[in-house]
Amino acid sequence: MNAPAEHDLARQHLIDPEICIRCNTCEEMCPVDAITHDSMNYVVKFDVCNWCNACIGPCPTGAIDNARNVARDRAYSLEEQLDWDVLPDETELDAIDVSGQEASLPAEVREITEIATAGQGGRAMAPWSAAHPYVNLYTVDNPVEATVTGNYRLTAPDASSDIHHIVLDFGATPFPVLEGQSLGIIPPGTDARGKAHLLRMYSIASPREGERPQYNNVALTVKRVKEDHDGQPALGVASNYLCDLKKGDKVKVTGPYGATFLMPNHPGASLMMICTGTGSAPMRAMTERRRRRRELKEGGELLLFFGARAPEELPYFGPLQKLPADFIDMNLAFSRQPGQAKQYVQDLIRERADKVVDMLKDDNCYIYICGLKGMEAGVLDAFRDICRAHGEDWEQLQPQLLAKARFHVETY
Ligand code: A2P
Repeated sequence: MNAPAEHDLARQHLIDPEICIRCNTCEEMCPVDAITHDSMNYVVKFDVCNWCNACIGPCPTGAIDNARNVARDRAYSLEEQLDWDVLPDETELDAIDVSGQEASLPAEVREITEIATAGQGGRAMAPWSAAHPYVNLYTVDNPVEATVTGNYRLTAPDASSDIHHIVLDFGATPFPVLEGQSLGIIPPGTDARGKAHLLRMYSIASPREGERPQYNNVALTVKRVKEDHDGQPALGVASNYLCDLKKGDKVKVTGPYGATFLMPNHPGASLMMICTGTGSAPMRAMTERRRRRRELKEGGELLLFFGARAPEELPYFGPLQKLPADFIDMNLAFSRQPGQAKQYVQDLIRERADKVVDMLKDDNCYIYICGLKGMEAGVLDAFRDICRAHGEDWEQLQPQLLAKARFHVETY
């Protein structure tokens, strides 16, 4: 095929269906409604996307950060994108530099670009002292097989949430991970359309040297899904598959994923961790890393805000209770305790305003938020209010936190 003249080429923004976790963040961030989805894929409308990049930073996996050069009149249609399991291969068109395009954007679009990217502090980055992560070692076409070596329920037998701690062992096959990274699980079988099930991503709950130190294994925190975000019944294909696994079962795994939601490694670095439910997985990984290296006295403070319906619904409640107060400053918010007012993590953040503001201002403190999407706005409001009450301006502080890679959010 002859490459079209350069002026007929366009850069088409695309989403990688292989690593997209369908969290809806990109669709919510897009100021021009260029992103849509069906029950399978999130896709970008070629004729609407203006490359403002508002979606790029907040995407937890980087799935959104993809593009292909296409002839302007032959861009991939929405129908094509909705049908993809993987991105199309690059073509010879991708070798052509079409980067000048943004310069011709109308003024009002450039304005959106500036506001959106300045608000995020530009592209997401890892803390300066984070170890370098391995990513995408295994794909849907080339997964690694792990063996289940443990699967037990974390929540009380009568709790309404069925949350499991699942240990996967990779034997002699390398699967290097860092705290904060995720992996993909490919459930066996096919969906209603006869297509292989899409992979589902799970945060890794164990530290880099293994769930069991010096073993090539990882732990996951998996909640059996019975309903979707809107409370409608959901199949929960992957979570039910995982929660029902027995010791010795084999599982197809992809990844690892994630190059920004990583913990700092330099001595004296503090962590402020805010999570709900299974959003505790990366926090457990980071806390375990610190707990196992406690005698080295290298870390700064650990401040945890953790929200669950009740103590018996809180994953890792027992082990958390055993951690000494001089190791971790723990703040547990319970929303459905009989006879008690509903409490969310953001309520406890307000109660600990002095401490939180000190840590927000401390360049050695890194902030991690993981869990329910709805929590994000509540936590940001709490930060805004307590900053104001302490003579600080959150709107100025947040871009600085982002620019220093001190602020990391992963919600779903
Ligand atoms: P709620 O009892 O109101 O659902 P889940 O058990 O569904 O995974 O949720 C974990 C915790 O997060 C629950 O205590 C839940 O409270 C709480 N939660 C729900 N919505 C929000 C929100 N917008 N902000 C903070 N916490 C929330």
